[in-house]
Amino acid sequence: MSPLHVTRTLPEDATEAALRADVRHGLTVSPKWLPPKWFYDARGSELFERITELPEYYPTRAEREILVARSGEIAAASGARTLIELGSGSSEKTRYLIDALAPSAYVPVDVSESALTQAGQALIEERPDLEVHALIADFTAPLAVPATPGPRLVAFLGGTIGNLLPAERAGFLTSVRTLLAPGDGLLLGTDLVKDEEVLVRAYDDAAGVTAAFNKNVLAVVDRELGADFDPDAFDHVALWDPEREWIEMRLRSRTAQTVKVPALDLAVDFAAGEELRTEVSAKFRKEKVAAELSAAGLELTRWWTDAEDRYALSLSVVR
Ligand code: AVJ
Repeated sequence: MSPLHVTRTLPEDATEAALRADVRHGLTVSPKWLPPKWFYDARGSELFERITELPEYYPTRAEREILVARSGEIAAASGARTLIELGSGSSEKTRYLIDALAPSAYVPVDVSESALTQAGQALIEERPDLEVHALIADFTAPLAVPATPGPRLVAFLGGTIGNLLPAERAGFLTSVRTLLAPGDGLLLGTDLVKDEEVLVRAYDDAAGVTAAFNKNVLAVVDRELGADFDPDAFDHVALWDPEREWIEMRLRSRTAQTVKVPALDLAVDFAAGEELRTEVSAKFRKEKVAAELSAAGLELTRWWTDAEDRYALSLSVVR
């Protein structure tokens, strides 16, 4: 069994500095906003796991359905010997791909060291021949990937690309493109545009798990920066923007209130009904995915959806 290689490119204190910068900026601009990456502390990650099991939240099941049905085709089409997975988390759905590809190397990339080492350790025990090089890194910044055998397949699953704003997506796809040599590919998971009611319910479930997940960002700011946000003083809002074709999650202040953020020496006024945007989750059409890939120098070559056409995995190659 080869050992688990772990490389950290993200400085230990980078996360703290980035949180401060995002909170200072986001709470002093109008409209106010906080980026969705701050949902995912231990409690937020657990709430997200619960979201994936909700009857209303279909993307995780739809993606798994495609991977179960199509991993063989994906493996044959890509022929990759190294699988690089961005935002790998628990690497749970990736098992199907790893089984089909039987790559010699797997490079999971995540900001969470605990998720990486847990998933990595389990994998090397199951597959003693697999080289696992875990990278603790922020995949939205340029990546230095270890020298593993090509061709390479970069996988970015879960629909997480939808959490990036259009300009961020363009930058992200361009930086992925620079990782790829001729013969390499990108496997991208995208949630698709569909009936508004289905979309809104996926982000505003009856059991209130998504509401708790949304409000968890306030608990993160309270704990990390000593703020005095009262999560109960905000209502969870999920709405569909038909022009931009994205879901937005917001937190709406129930009353006029002032929130203190001591670590930033900041006092933030909220008017009654004022909203703080916490997430954008873009939904796609095939033409838009192809156009955005093309703008980054990639060509969409394969497109797989679940039986209900709710979600897509696409394979693209260097143009
Ligand atoms: C895992 C980031 C893709 O946008 O659907 C779930 C996160 N937010 N419910 C998504 C999320 C609210 C999720 N992503």
